[in-house]
Amino acid sequence: MNRNFVVAIDGTSGSGKTTTAKKVAEHFGWVYLETGATYRAVAYVVLKQGKDPRKESEVTQVLKGLRLDVKCSEKGQRTFVNGEDVTDYLRKDEIDKAVTPVSKMKVVREWLVGVQRKISRNQNVVVEGRDIGTIVFPDADLKIYMDAELEIRARRRKKQKGNTVSLDEVKKDLKRRDYHDSTRSESPLKKAPDAFFLDTTSLSIEGQVDWVVSKVKQLNESITSI
Ligand code: DC
Repeated sequence: MNRNFVVAIDGTSGSGKTTTAKKVAEHFGWVYLETGATYRAVAYVVLKQGKDPRKESEVTQVLKGLRLDVKCSEKGQRTFVNGEDVTDYLRKDEIDKAVTPVSKMKVVREWLVGVQRKISRNQNVVVEGRDIGTIVFPDADLKIYMDAELEIRARRRKKQKGNTVSLDEVKKDLKRRDYHDSTRSESPLKKAPDAFFLDTTSLSIEGQVDWVVSKVKQLNESITSI
C-alpha cells in the first residue's frame, strides 16, 4: 500500500470495536487509536484537579494547561497527561461516570478532535470511537459501524469485568451509555451514511476481524487498480 489509509470504526459500547480495531491494526502493522481513552484522560485530569466534570467553565480551565499525548504502536496504546502515563487508571468506575458529561462538551470535543487528527497524521491508522466516520475523519477510506444486541454486549462486558459487577448492573450501564452517546447534541453516536454496518451479535472476534480485514483488502485492490 503506498498511501495513508484511514479505517474508521464506530459503534456502541461492547459491540467489539476496540478489540477488532486493535487486531485489524496488528494484522496490517498499522497504528491503532482508541479515542475513548482521550475522553477518559480529560475526565481523569478533571477529577485529579478536584474540578466538577459537569461544569463547562471548570473543564475549560483544565484543558488550558493540558498536554495530552498518545503513544500508539501495533501493540496498543498508552495515554499520557502532562507526561504522566495514566493508561491504567482510565477504566476505573469514577472515570466511567465522569467521562459522560465531559464528552458532551463542545469545547472538549473540538479540542480532542484536533489532538486525534494530529496523532493520526501521515500514518496508516485504524481509529475507533463514536464520531470517527462522521466528524473526525469524514473522508476515511473505510468506515464501519458496529453494533450487537444488548444482551450479548452485556455478557461480553461482564466477562471482561469478572465478578465485580452483576449482569444486570452491566446492562444498566450499557443502556445509560447508549442513551447519552446517541442523544447528546454534540457529535452523537450515529452511523455515517457511507459506513458499512456490522452486526456482531453472532460473530466471534476472529469473525469480526476477518470481515474488516477483507473489506480493507477489497478496497485497497480497487484503489490500486484505478
Ligand atoms: O469507548 P469508551 O467507552 O472508552 O469511551 C469513553 C467515553 O467517551 C464514552 O462515554 C463515549 C465517549 N466517546 C466519545 O464521545 N467519542 C469518541 N470518539 C470516543 C468516546
